[in-house]
Amino acid sequence: MTFQTRKDFTFDNLEWLNCFFFFQVVMENGLLKVTLSTPTGFVTEIKYNGLDNALEYRNKESKRGYWDAVWSKPGYKRNIFDVLRGTQYTVIAEDENRIEVSFTKTWNSSLDDEIPVNIDKRFHYMALSDDRQKFMPSPWDRAAGEVLDYPEAVHLTNSVDSDINGVDDKYQYSCDNKDSRVSGWVSTDKSVGFWVIIPSDEFRTGGPVKQDLTSHVGPTTLAPFISGHYAGISLTLRLQDGEPWKKVFGPIFIYLNSGKPNNDPRTLWEDAKEQTFIETKSWPYDFPLSQDFPHANQRVTISGRLLVRERYISTVLINASSAYVGLAPPGEAGSWQKDTRGYQFWNQTDSQGNFMIRGVRPGTYNLYGWVPGFIGDYKYKVSVNISRGVDIQLGDIVYDPPRNGFTLWEIGIPDRSAAEFFVPDPRKTLMTYLSSSNSDRDLGNKTHVPTTWRIVFDLPDVVPTRDYTLRLALASATSARLQKVIIIFILAIFHVILTTFLHCNRKGWINERNATRPHFRTRLIGKDNSIARHGIHGLYWLYSFNVAGYRLRRGTNTIFLRQAFGSGPFFGVMYDYLRLEAPPSRY
Ligand SMILES: *[C@@H]1O[C@H](CO)[C@@H](O)[C@H](O)[C@H]1NC(C)=O
Ligand SMILES: *[C@@H]1O[C@H](CO)[C@@H](O)[C@H](O)[C@H]1NC(C)=O
Ligand SMILES: *[C@@H]1O[C@H](CO)[C@@H](O)[C@H](O)[C@H]1NC(C)=O
Ligand SMILES: *[C@@H]1O[C@H](CO)[C@@H](O)[C@H](O)[C@H]1NC(C)=O
Repeated sequence: MTFQTRKDFTFDNLEWLNCFFFFQVVMENGLLKVTLSTPTGFVTEIKYNGLDNALEYRNKESKRGYWDAVWSKPGYKRNIFDVLRGTQYTVIAEDENRIEVSFTKTWNSSLDDEIPVNIDKRFHYMALSDDRQKFMPSPWDRAAGEVLDYPEAVHLTNSVDSDINGVDDKYQYSCDNKDSRVSGWVSTDKSVGFWVIIPSDEFRTGGPVKQDLTSHVGPTTLAPFISGHYAGISLTLRLQDGEPWKKVFGPIFIYLNSGKPNNDPRTLWEDAKEQTFIETKSWPYDFPLSQDFPHANQRVTISGRLLVRERYISTVLINASSAYVGLAPPGEAGSWQKDTRGYQFWNQTDSQGNFMIRGVRPGTYNLYGWVPGFIGDYKYKVSVNISRGVDIQLGDIVYDPPRNGFTLWEIGIPDRSAAEFFVPDPRKTLMTYLSSSNSDRDLGNKTHVPTTWRIVFDLPDVVPTRDYTLRLALASATSARLQKVIIIFILAIFHVILTTFLHCNRKGWINERNATRPHFRTRLIGKDNSIARHGIHGLYWLYSFNVAGYRLRRGTNTIFLRQAFGSGPFFGVMYDYLRLEAPPSRY
């Protein structure tokens, strides 16, 4: 679809929503019949394997299979929900194997404010990965449940099927872009599967570890293209008045499969996975005839080998194993995680650091990367200009991660996830069956106070005249303000100060009220909301602080890390990794 912008606007969410088109076009091949409304371009009917309509026929035609955009005008808070009704319909190509139809519209003010509700009892088994699939509650089960603090989360207290219990929350079914290739539903009575296969992430925003929704109660299956989930407003697309913007979303692949009645739904899942593998291999598709979608022979492969130079660890270059390497619009190192406008092309290196990124569209990019086990973001020194069909071999490229000295101590694994840190179990009554994600949101009326973490460590020697470096990588932040306080003392007075400190804290005092001012504080950072959305990471933040050597003592030292903004259950940070580095020295 092509959008022509008349007014400036922002997209919060742009997604293709299946679930389910007064003129119509019918595409039929003896196996499958797909009906679309013209010129609006809604999918109104998918007839397959004895099912008259796999989509929810009780919904309005515009609420079965559709695109939607949630957008707002500058200066207005109100979000407008628009199902992108086409105004012109054309058949682009038609032969015995395929038909390509086009629905276009020029942006205007026709609005549709209704929230989509998609219900279909026939599909009730949902699958999005090998270990996340189950019989799902119905919209009625949700309606009968108890809404928890975060309103998307409902404690199912009165489900028709007693096996369906715990908490239902669409965020439990979120997935990193890189892992989100197929999700969908099975009707076990008819043994029919309905799957959305997303063979490439090139048109999605935020890079490979951006998380988004997949399928959820409805039954609803989504193909989100732009969204702020797990990232916040920095992933809202903002366009100025008159600013041209064009982007191809998709194609995505809708796959229907069938088996013997009352088969195990997993057999349809396994088949959908195989199909996903085939679709991923077939990318970029050669069938779309739009000028805006380059075919494989117009695209480019870029390859090379990424190495890491960490002289404080190794005298030789280290292979960047399982590193993420990608092309994204030009910007600063790491800017890809907030990019909403362009295309991104990513792949992972092998154990030797070799990478190969196929199917890159012509354009100007920067090559970015990050390496599990090392902090920070890599950016290749010069921009990469891809012209039609000319492959690029970059050879060996070297990442110098931020580092000033030997490691004195480290906590965690630098991999942009807080998975290795302590995550409390959900309350028993809120455990969700077949899902072990953290569902404990019934935090009720508890008061929330800033929290303080203490890192106690010994230093056999200190050079008071030199700077040490504290690296602090965050896997996620939501309205957090982090303060670092270093208090130096000998063991004897440890308890005294600590007690005072905690006491102050409990009273809700902040450091200004106390003699100890923080040596560093961040501004209020983060709106990724990953805590409320059961995420183990959101956007990546890396801070590096100088710690003047005179603040440290030989013997025991303590660093207090205080999340100073503690006013609600869903505010906080998730740590990825912390490290204290000695002053620079010979390797
Ligand atoms: C990713 O890399 C692997 C291994 O080099 C390669 O087989 C695969 O085709 C690449 N995928 C893409 C989309 O570039
Ligand atoms: C790529 O193109 C940009 C803009 O056209 C130009 O500024 C840049 O120098 C080019 N980079 C290389 C490596 O040729
Ligand atoms: C929540 O706190 C308010 C004010 O302290 C109190 O009046 C109310 O009863 C509390 N609600 C619950 C459910 O505890
Ligand atoms: C702040 O902490 C210091 C110890 O570091 C203590 O002496 C002082 O009384 C505290 N200030 C307040 C206002 O409690």
